[in-house]
Amino acid sequence: MTGQVLYLVVCGAGPAKRIDVMVRLAQEEGWVVHCIATPAAAEHFLDLAALAELTGNPVRTTYRKAGDRSLPPADAVIVVPATYNTINKWAAGIADTYALNQLAELTGLGVRIVVLPFVNRALAANRVFVRSVEALRAEGVRVLFGPGEFEPHPPRTGDRVLDTYPWKLALAAATAK
Ligand SMILES: Cc1cc2nc3c(=O)[nH]c(=O)nc-3n(C[C@H](O)[C@H](O)[C@H](O)COP(=O)(O)O)c2cc1C
Repeated sequence: MTGQVLYLVVCGAGPAKRIDVMVRLAQEEGWVVHCIATPAAAEHFLDLAALAELTGNPVRTTYRKAGDRSLPPADAVIVVPATYNTINKWAAGIADTYALNQLAELTGLGVRIVVLPFVNRALAANRVFVRSVEALRAEGVRVLFGPGEFEPHPPRTGDRVLDTYPWKLALAAATAK
């Protein structure tokens, strides 16, 4: 699979601070990584310059301006850490960020998309979140949520579970036949 293009759509939650872990794992498997950050991820969690250097590609947060290179087509997409906000907006058809617009198009194109959420138990217990996960799955999106996949933590404990965040599951699902 050397040279296949992986989009990492990065949302605004704690694991985004460690997105370099995901990038390195993907690169070790031969993926060429392009990051797309939500505004919240870009503002509060990411070092955009360091991420651009690591991937060798600019981090996209908005539509390209004249002169910017366009993204090569994606062979697979991982949304990580996928927030309550982005999961619900995507499932509801809202496309008010560049990341959500890309996800809407990629879903319609049938590109393989893997979602690794990061939500606490309170957010995950909302009926709207459960409905969104079901809706995305019905579209063919692989949402890694449930036993043996991402399992939500108690509120205000997010920082304590960063070391066990299952980055590798997302990569395996993106690579699976
Ligand atoms: C320090 C901090 C930690 C956050 N952690 C989470 C989280 O674990 N899960 C989540 O869904 N939202 C979390 N949020 C809230 C999101 O950042 C917020 O909903 C934001 O609007 C998400 O935007 P996005 O989905 O476009 O990235 C956190 C916010 C901050 C400032």
